[in-house]
Amino acid sequence: MKLTIEDVRSRFIEHFDGTTGSVYASPGRINLIGEHTDYNNGFVFPGAVQQGMIAEIKPNGTRNVRAYSIDLKDYVEFSLDDEKGPKATWARYIFGVCREMMALGVPVQGFNTAFAGDVPLGAGMSSSAALESCFAFACNDLWGENKISKMDLAKVGQATEHKYIGCNCGIMDQFASVHGKAGSLMRLDCRSGEFEYFPWNPKGYKLVLVNSCVKHELAGSPYNDRRLSCERVAAVIAKHHPEVESLRDASYEMLEEVKGEISEEDAKRAAYVIGERDRVLAVCEALEKGDYETVGEKMYETHHGLSKEYEVSCEELDFLNDIAHEEHVTGSRIMGGGFGGCTINLVSEELYDNFVKVVKTKFKEKYGKEPIIIDVVIGDGSRKLC
Ligand code: GLA
Repeated sequence: MKLTIEDVRSRFIEHFDGTTGSVYASPGRINLIGEHTDYNNGFVFPGAVQQGMIAEIKPNGTRNVRAYSIDLKDYVEFSLDDEKGPKATWARYIFGVCREMMALGVPVQGFNTAFAGDVPLGAGMSSSAALESCFAFACNDLWGENKISKMDLAKVGQATEHKYIGCNCGIMDQFASVHGKAGSLMRLDCRSGEFEYFPWNPKGYKLVLVNSCVKHELAGSPYNDRRLSCERVAAVIAKHHPEVESLRDASYEMLEEVKGEISEEDAKRAAYVIGERDRVLAVCEALEKGDYETVGEKMYETHHGLSKEYEVSCEELDFLNDIAHEEHVTGSRIMGGGFGGCTINLVSEELYDNFVKVVKTKFKEKYGKEPIIIDVVIGDGSRKLC
């Protein structure tokens, strides 16, 4: 069931002093292609979804934030001026965002808040970016005269992940949550910050997520190790080719040249990133021609790379990808950071019903539970609801 303002407002009223505040929303995201390219300064192709976070916020005249997580039924109070911040991870996201907004000169004040979300947690749909963007957008609106740019709001969320959570993520998730636009995907150049909206209306096809329900946890995980591998390889290549700042600038030839100086594992990781950089561009070109078959092929190539070279897949996700292939789904791959979560599938309308039926049955036969099917509707980015 879709989360509504009323679900959050009723709990805000109940939990605090009976009055109401302002309500903000921020979405999760999908990503058509361009995985693990953001922190390599490459391109990504995300879009916001309709699922997201909704928070009601009201200044309370103190320096304390009193936060109620409706989903977790957990309450935390923390001071904006306490360097350490709260222990609960969910509250650290809010604390981190407030502190980063303060560092940008926004005079954030204490507030009461109740919030909830309908982005499945750990599904690779960026529930945490939705939470960060929601509070960054709200702080900007309530205390910052909306002077902080959208890109800087996204960076506030990213800095929160780095400094308060321990996940050295790229900018894609927070970017998509803040900038999303209903009906459009976005191609972002993660080096320059330039982006373009691409209307997404694939006639005859649907995008559907299949959630393996294997929970992923990016913080402190092999995610950070992947990033380090990329940085190590880029640094070695740069010794020979000073123009190379990141793997975005590297070629397979350069990688070949330094193979003796890097580990086999790092070489595999880098090969994936170089391939993925090129796939995003190939997909953009194919989309301009309405060539969804090529888009789909590239998605399968990405899955293969993420599974065999980058090694961020798991048995369940590979199984879902195999089923998609057997059922002639146009494109299918792991979405997001990996290690669990969803596959994203581009499926023709005629095959859709059958695919959903088969994937549910076969997955259940093997793993004892049905995967969750999520039809993708591209929605708007961060906004004030009332
Ligand atoms: C996570 C990170 C993003 C990005 C993806 C993989 O979602 O938060 O920055 O690196 O993984 O593409």
